Amino acid sequence: MEKRIKKCHTLHGEVVPPGDKSISHRAIIFNSMAAGEARVSNVSPGDDCLSTIACMRALGVEISPLAPSVIKVKGVGKQGFREAEDVLDAGNSGTTMRLLTGLLAAQPFLSILTGDESLRSRPMDRFIVPLRLMGAEIWGRKGDSVAPLAIRGGRLKGIEYRLPVASAQLKSALLIAALFAQGSTTVEEPAPSRDHTERLLQSMGAHLEKEGCKVTLFPNPAPLTPTDVNVPGDISSAAFWLVAGAVHPNASIRVLNIGVNETRIGILEVLQAMGARLEVENERSEGGEPVADIRIESGPLVATCIEGEIIPRLIDEIPVIAVAACLAKGTTVIRDAAELRVKESDRISATVQELSKLGARMEELPDGMVIHGVERLRGARCDSHQDHRLAMTLAMAGLVAEGETIIEHADVVGVSYPGFWQDLEALSAQ
Ligand code: S3P
Repeated sequence: MEKRIKKCHTLHGEVVPPGDKSISHRAIIFNSMAAGEARVSNVSPGDDCLSTIACMRALGVEISPLAPSVIKVKGVGKQGFREAEDVLDAGNSGTTMRLLTGLLAAQPFLSILTGDESLRSRPMDRFIVPLRLMGAEIWGRKGDSVAPLAIRGGRLKGIEYRLPVASAQLKSALLIAALFAQGSTTVEEPAPSRDHTERLLQSMGAHLEKEGCKVTLFPNPAPLTPTDVNVPGDISSAAFWLVAGAVHPNASIRVLNIGVNETRIGILEVLQAMGARLEVENERSEGGEPVADIRIESGPLVATCIEGEIIPRLIDEIPVIAVAACLAKGTTVIRDAAELRVKESDRISATVQELSKLGARMEELPDGMVIHGVERLRGARCDSHQDHRLAMTLAMAGLVAEGETIIEHADVVGVSYPGFWQDLEALSAQ
């Protein structure tokens, strides 16, 4: 499907983005491991979380819808999973494949795990190496580096491991495996990545200790306690409206019910550093995660430098931050973000390639990009590269570009934000 976006005159109103994708995956998977029933509400409606639900069902977990965006998960306990009858398909979802690899490495049966063309090209060796050190038997294509994976799970032992990159998916896969291991497991990251796994596992009764960038999990024979989760809105989805509000000349937007966990709010810090008129309001706490509403209004932006420890705290928002940088005064530099090359697309090259079609002046770096601010963008035909975040990024650029922007493969937004086009229409119509 292609989508046509016209420059809009105003962007006014309120928007409630869908539930956080990262927290939704974890609420489903961890409650599947718990002994008893739990409700997950405001669960992400995107295809990625549907992939997680389908895989957990194939492993013997009953998951039933209770209302729109509310599900009941009937946990089977840590030892209650059964061998799937078929290949497990994670679709486009890296989090599904990676977290399940940690879980399946500890199950006493064979699992075959695959995904779509994009996911089958994304690195899995960084998961296979430490899980093998824990005693797991895992194989993959291309010298055990990519999916499909074959996993013959079994007994694991705890390890001490320094992650080669700050990755919440890798940290989480190892912590999940560690729940089943003999002895404690310590994972050390080069910089803090999102900590939803630690927060939720702790609230479900797991014994975790944190010290700086190190987290240690002490296995506990007691089962995890089923825990109802009311998932906060996804800041990675809110990011599109925040950037649109900042770059559009006549905008005033309130984005409601957004998770503002410290490990996710790099985008707020960057927009503030660029001079955006942004206000965090009604801060509160929801099931162990901080939540707030965010107001954003039009205003001039200045270039900034984005590098170092902030990168893992805004990794998924970099494509849309690039749109803000395109329309800021001066030259923005983004570095230390080589991980972007192994996301749903190569987000460095795809972002530069597609925004350049709209008149952006930007260049690739091996680990980031250099973006020279321009007066205006102009509508053009561009392509999402089948990457949900790139499709939504191009839509935000289209809202402020002169004339019409045509986005090819635009239906891919359903991976994380199925209601995206409706929300866009509602905001631009008011
Ligand atoms: C995620 C972690 C990040 C992020 C991804 C979701 C998670 O990936 O890019 O969209 O839910 O743990 P890495 O941890 O691999 O950087």
